[in-house]
This record gives sequence, structure tokens and C-alpha cells, in this order.
Amino acid sequence: MPINRRDFLLQGGLATAALAVSPPAFEAEPLPQLPLCGGAALRKVAFRTQVLPSGPPFNPLTLARFVDPLPIPPVLRSAGTRPSPEDPELALPYYCVEMRECLARLHRDLKPTRQWGYAGSVPGPTIETRSGQGLLVEWVNALPRKHLLPVDFNVHGAEANKPEVRTIAHVHGARVPPQGDGYPERWWTSGKSATFHYPNQQDAATLWYHDHAMGITRLNMFAGLFGFFIVRDEAEDALDLPRGEYDIPLVIYDRRLDREGQLYYLTSGDPRAPWVPEFYSNAIVCNGKLFPYLEVEPRRYRFRLLNAANGRSFHLTLSNGQDFQQIGSDGGLLPQPVTLQDVTLFPAERADLVIDFSAHAGEQIVLQQESQEVMQFRVRKDGGKDRAPLLQKLRPVPRIAEAEAVKTRLLTLGERDDYAGNSTMVLLNGTHWDKPVTETPTLDTVEIWSLLNLTGDAHPIHLHLVRFQILDRRPFDVFAYNASKTLRYTGPAVPPPPQEAGWKDTVRTDPGMVTRIIVRFEGYPGRYVWHCHLLEHEDNEMMRPYDILTKR
Ligand code: C2O
Ligand code: CU
Repeated sequence: MPINRRDFLLQGGLATAALAVSPPAFEAEPLPQLPLCGGAALRKVAFRTQVLPSGPPFNPLTLARFVDPLPIPPVLRSAGTRPSPEDPELALPYYCVEMRECLARLHRDLKPTRQWGYAGSVPGPTIETRSGQGLLVEWVNALPRKHLLPVDFNVHGAEANKPEVRTIAHVHGARVPPQGDGYPERWWTSGKSATFHYPNQQDAATLWYHDHAMGITRLNMFAGLFGFFIVRDEAEDALDLPRGEYDIPLVIYDRRLDREGQLYYLTSGDPRAPWVPEFYSNAIVCNGKLFPYLEVEPRRYRFRLLNAANGRSFHLTLSNGQDFQQIGSDGGLLPQPVTLQDVTLFPAERADLVIDFSAHAGEQIVLQQESQEVMQFRVRKDGGKDRAPLLQKLRPVPRIAEAEAVKTRLLTLGERDDYAGNSTMVLLNGTHWDKPVTETPTLDTVEIWSLLNLTGDAHPIHLHLVRFQILDRRPFDVFAYNASKTLRYTGPAVPPPPQEAGWKDTVRTDPGMVTRIIVRFEGYPGRYVWHCHLLEHEDNEMMRPYDILTKR
């Protein structure tokens, strides 16, 4: 019987009413109300019970080498524009990134590995922008409610009364107002999102985004929550650097896998307190693959290297012993290329390299971490040549004069907590996270921070918001310092090598050394953090808030 539109609507209405009174057949865990990417349809969030890593770790060195092509993370496309929060007249590109659980093969011969990725991939898609081009990113937590990895509820900020899965995105190296910086305590849970504004008023640089949730950053990042954020600008365009398909980001990190090919995060063995002070793994992953290969033309390439490991540093060389140029560091281009045969990256550090394959047509060259293969370059017999000479000058990095500093702060790494009996804990200046703020530089002033490393390990120290310069590293008497708080140097100050003499946002502080950095606190007033980028340390309070005060 034909029905008219009005009848159809009525019948539809009745059917809905009938459904509403019938008992639910099956009570599934309710879907969280996702704040939607640009109003898109509600997406289903996967729920499952927690699977703890099983069995002894798998030995990745048994895998075939160089059978998977190197994945290159796609550049994220914006989903239209939205008004700027500061100036509603100004439309900014709007991006939406959902953090999702995903399955991906780390190697042809492994089962897919369950991971957590931005936009469901590890690494996440690359966000690209230009200096001065602000943008908005809505970071949506579409993750399960149970963590993929064992959470330690004793760690500050990760207590059992908090949701187990919490996220907050931070763009490492970004000059961003405090409300968009990713303050670790302002996390959100599964089904929620936050939109951050990145003004990008800064020079071209290889930045990266990653999770920063209080007390579980190490787990969220080990699960896969990181990606590149690349800022370009005219000064860089004017240089004849390899670009387009010859400009490739490489993120390197270590993972441990169980026999099922699943992520295996080391625990203390005490199920009530699984936190471990440090974690190094035996499988080195590059852009999401173990031992990938990349076909290259016999010409120059630009590779933006990032160490996204929880705790491991990488000392990288090329198997044929050839040299390469480092052209940039954390905060952008160096004043001139530095010719090197090896590069060391501590967690969160970046090195922008130019590798010239033109004399190596037909060869296979392996990027190595010490004696372990990371990836292979297969140089084609022919292909595009770039005959332009490598530039001698890149971009000036004016040294900040020590005389400009209005304050020098002596800050220790390593005073241990005694009241909780937690002898493995390392603190900044002996101060817990929740103590009142002690570092309060004034906006647009220069300070010197002298970082006294009293521990036996190197710690990569990162300051949010700012870029800085390394002044020097100088050995001192740790025993004398511990006994009487007197700083006695035992050797001369060593200035940084040229590859560390550009803009940095993360600095390696060697054991038994005072590492001095000089910082101009440019950007925005407000609350930021500084911390050790060994994630197991950072999560256990080797992190402090700091305030940038307004000039008065
Ligand atoms: Cu790479 Cu506080 O961050
Ligand atoms: Cu540390």
C-alpha cells in the first residue's frame, strides 16, 4: 500500500517509540559521547579487556633484514577552517586528530602489533605548516578505557581514582600560549577532546607532537602516541636544500615485543608497583618498521631524524663510513652545515641531516645504531642529480651574550626522595612536582640555567615554550657538592661542538657535569613545564612546573 510522507513519518515515530519500551537485548559498555571531528558521525570506540604482555621477549635480530619499504608518514590534511580563538575574524586551518587503537605490522614476518596512534597510525600523520601560519588541532581521545600497558597507580598523577586512560597532546618545541601547550594535569579521557591553537610564530624547525599525560606519558608514548610537526619558512625556502620527496622525516625508537609480536613493557615484577626507573629495548623501529629499506636516487636527501624512544639514546653511523652534513638541530637550522660521520641523539633530540648518495649509485648503505642495523638505503643506478654545491651558510644563530642574563639558577638533577622510601626516584632540584613553583623567569628576559647532574646517568632536559643555547659543560666534584653544597669545578668548561651550538630545546646533561644553557624566555607568560625526557623519569616527578611572569 502506497504511503504518503506524513504517514511514513508517523510510522517511523511509532517504531521508535516501540523500540524505546522494549527491554535492551544486550547491555554493551556505553559509547562515550565523542566530541566530533568537524561534526562527523559518531565513531565506534573499541573496548576490550586488558591483555598484559605475555611470555619472554622476542628476539628481533632473528628477523629478515630490509624486506619492508620505509613508510613515510602522510601529511595531515586540514578539515576546513575555524575562527581563531583570539580573533574571530581570522579563519585558521582546522585539523582533527583522533587517537585510536590500531593494529600494524612492524615487520613482514610478524603478526600485527596492537598500538595506539594519532589518526590510528604510528607514527601519526605529519602536521606541516609555515612560520606565522597559525592552526587549530582538535585532539580527540578515541582510545579504549583500559590501558594497553600496565599502569602504576603509585606514580604521582596516575592514582587509581583517576581514569586509567588519559591523554594530552603537546607539540614539543612549539612556541604556544600556555592553554595550548599540553600541561600534563589538563588531560582528558576517552570520548573527550580538546582544541589547541598553535600560532607558529617561530622559525622553520622539525618539531614533533606527543602525549604528555601526568604519570602515564611513558606508557602512552610507548603505545605509539607521537608524530612530526614541521614548520617551514621563507628563509629556509631560499636555501637550496633537498625538498619535496627528497625531504624525509625519520623517527627512531626502540620497542620490546613478546613472542606474539605485541608490545612488551618492562615492569618491576611487583604487580602493585610496576614502574621501572629506566627501560631500553632491543628492537629498533624506524617510521613504524623494523629494518625497513628506502630506495633513493644518487643525489642529496634531507633526513629529519628524531629520537622518540622512552629512554634510549642512539649513536648513528652509515655502514660505508661516508660522512654527511648536519644542517639543523632541535630549534631549526644551524649557522652552517657540520660535516660528521656519526650523530648522537638522546630522547626528544632532533638532527636535520643532508646525506649525499651521488657517489654511491648502485650501493646499499645501512644506517646503524652501534652495530645494529636500523634501516637500509638502496641507491639506484641512475636518477635525479643535484649539482648545486652544498651551501656554506644556512641561517645565522646569533649567540646570546652571557652578559644579557639577568639571573643564573643553579638546579640539581638527582636529589633523591627519602620520605617515601623511593630510592630510585630522581628529582629536579630535590623538589616534587606538586611543590610551589620555584622557577619564575620574566617574559623577554635572559637567564642562565646551570644544571648540576649529581647522578651517574645522562639526562636529556627539555624546557617547554623556549629554545635555548648551550654555553658549556664542566666537570665538578659531586661528593663535595653533596657534602657541603659547594660547587667545585674539577676541569675546564667545554663548549658545545658545532652541531650542538645552534638552537636547542632539549639538552644532554652528562653525569658529574654542570651543563649551562642560556635562555631567552620569549613567547607568552604563563605556566609551562621543564623536565627530563627519559620518560620513566619524567613520569616519576623528574618534572617541574615553571612560570613565565609578565614584565612589570
Ligand atoms: Cu617532548 Cu614535555 O616534552
Ligand atoms: Cu632523567
